[in-house]
Amino acid sequence: MCGIIGIASNKSVTSNIIQSLKKLEYRGYDSAGIATITKGEIDENKCTGRVDNLEKILFKNPSSGVLGIGHVRWATHGVPNQVNAHPHSSEEVSVVHNGIIENSSELKKDLEKKGYRFKSQTDTEVITFLLTDFLKNFDLINTINKTLEKLHGSFALGIIFKKYNNIVVGARRGSPLAVGYGHEENYLGSDSYALKSMTNKITYLDDGDICVLTNNKVEFYNSTNIKINKEVLTLSDDKHIAEKGDYKDFMSKEIYEQNITAKTCIKEYIDQLRGDINLYNFPIKPQEIEKIILIGCGTAYHACLTSKYWFEELTTIPIEIDVASEFRYRKLQFNKKNLYVFVSQSGETADTFAALDLCKKNNVITCSIINVVESSIARTSDFVLPIHAGPEIGVASTKAFIGQMLVLYILSLKISEARKEISKLDYIKKITELKTLPDLIKKTLECEDKIQVIAKDFLEAKGTIFLGRGSSFPIALEGALKLKELSYLHAEGYPAGEMKHGPLALIEEGLPVVVLAPKDKYFEKTISNMQEVIARGGKVFLITNESKNIISENIRFTLEISKTDDYLTPFLMTIPLQLLAYHVASLKNLDIDKPRNLAKSVTVE
Ligand code: AGP
Repeated sequence: MCGIIGIASNKSVTSNIIQSLKKLEYRGYDSAGIATITKGEIDENKCTGRVDNLEKILFKNPSSGVLGIGHVRWATHGVPNQVNAHPHSSEEVSVVHNGIIENSSELKKDLEKKGYRFKSQTDTEVITFLLTDFLKNFDLINTINKTLEKLHGSFALGIIFKKYNNIVVGARRGSPLAVGYGHEENYLGSDSYALKSMTNKITYLDDGDICVLTNNKVEFYNSTNIKINKEVLTLSDDKHIAEKGDYKDFMSKEIYEQNITAKTCIKEYIDQLRGDINLYNFPIKPQEIEKIILIGCGTAYHACLTSKYWFEELTTIPIEIDVASEFRYRKLQFNKKNLYVFVSQSGETADTFAALDLCKKNNVITCSIINVVESSIARTSDFVLPIHAGPEIGVASTKAFIGQMLVLYILSLKISEARKEISKLDYIKKITELKTLPDLIKKTLECEDKIQVIAKDFLEAKGTIFLGRGSSFPIALEGALKLKELSYLHAEGYPAGEMKHGPLALIEEGLPVVVLAPKDKYFEKTISNMQEVIARGGKVFLITNESKNIISENIRFTLEISKTDDYLTPFLMTIPLQLLAYHVASLKNLDIDKPRNLAKSVTVE
């Protein structure tokens, strides 16, 4: 999703803005742009496609400005072309924006009546003209607050002015924005990752905050024009983790890091001496929890769905799962004895944040399971359980999914133990088995060669189906999501038992169907469903940990994974599916880390 950079310095900022925009590329984008104040005028350059194109333009047309803003755009209003790319500038003001202005059509009509002529189809250009208009009669902070008052929707903004030619302004409502402090320069950025190469001193803006940066000072104001103080945080140094190293792309690196993700996470949560789970200061007594509601989007939602099976098996607590974009608009009965859990890798997903905000407004207990611990969701929730996966750069979430499931599993185990719903013996046994997970993941990764062969069968397919029962069902959904987002192949996940209620009509000669059938209580039933698919011509790829008792000559390929505790099997089932999506996309020569139309951090509704 759109990324913002701003730099106020005493030396040329172009090259640093370009480098920081490259750091924001992982968010997913379709065009890029930059504006500086050069020789007292706003100097704007924009392009479609990659930041490299922008760099080429600036190479031919260097800009010497010592302050400026940059942007990578993920189109919402208006096609991805050069005119719609940000910044959007008037003679006086230049603006970059992440978010959506919901009332832009009405605002545009009013501004057109006043004589402003719009060049783009974007919602952002109204901000440029509102600022230009208010500037005629108001000082800087009043101009900004009067503009923001007019806007409905969400935004993070970076602004420069011809008149105030030594400042960069930032403002936030609903979309993330951070300030970084450097030596004789200060920065604005959509996330700390983009700023990390320049500074590790960061302040996060809250909704309603405005920041004004010069090269040697940063000031903050609230929506009533009052100056405020904000906390400066020092970021941990994990720069090295966010490099590709010898891997072809971030996704393959992140897939191969999953045993480390599991190891780190287990180390953080399991006390090696006591062999117990560390969970101090949990905001609600487990014995008193009446219901657990788990909320997330996409892959994070699948992690929530998987955990439903653990919570239900290990505790007597009723569990409810919802996608954040639905949850936030439901008519809900909030209960102070419920625990509301928000799962998000980035911690900036707009729908998940809005769902959390709704819970906060209703004074219920919130907990977030997060990768980016400095994120808005982490900072807003009552309690944070980090997944410790390190930066995840590939748009397709892989190691974060493993981390999210792991923390959810650990949480279900601890709650069960605290409520005395699992015996001490079983609890210790489960923890001991959990410690074997990193090695099991490592071993499962060895299936890559086989997956590379299987992937060829998906190249000509017009669609594909993933089937599973129990906790393998959400993994089937996740496998289908990975395949569609990376390879643009139509893929659907279904509970295997649901096929006969409709989807079976899709099966025809040669249609690839991935069946997840571990040896669990559903095994025989899943195998019967698989036979029904084979009988109708489906080309079955079976993933199981019990191949010896399956008799079917017509299975196209059987992949055997390690046998382990049923609760750990979803982790292992995930790996071949990630690799399958990776290799189908790779054979199709697609952009693995930045699939079309998608963004890493989905900060619009
Ligand atoms: C996963 O591969 C996706 N790119 C996407 O579904 C993602 O999981 C979703 O947007 C939620 O993101 P979050 O975990 O950062 O909240």
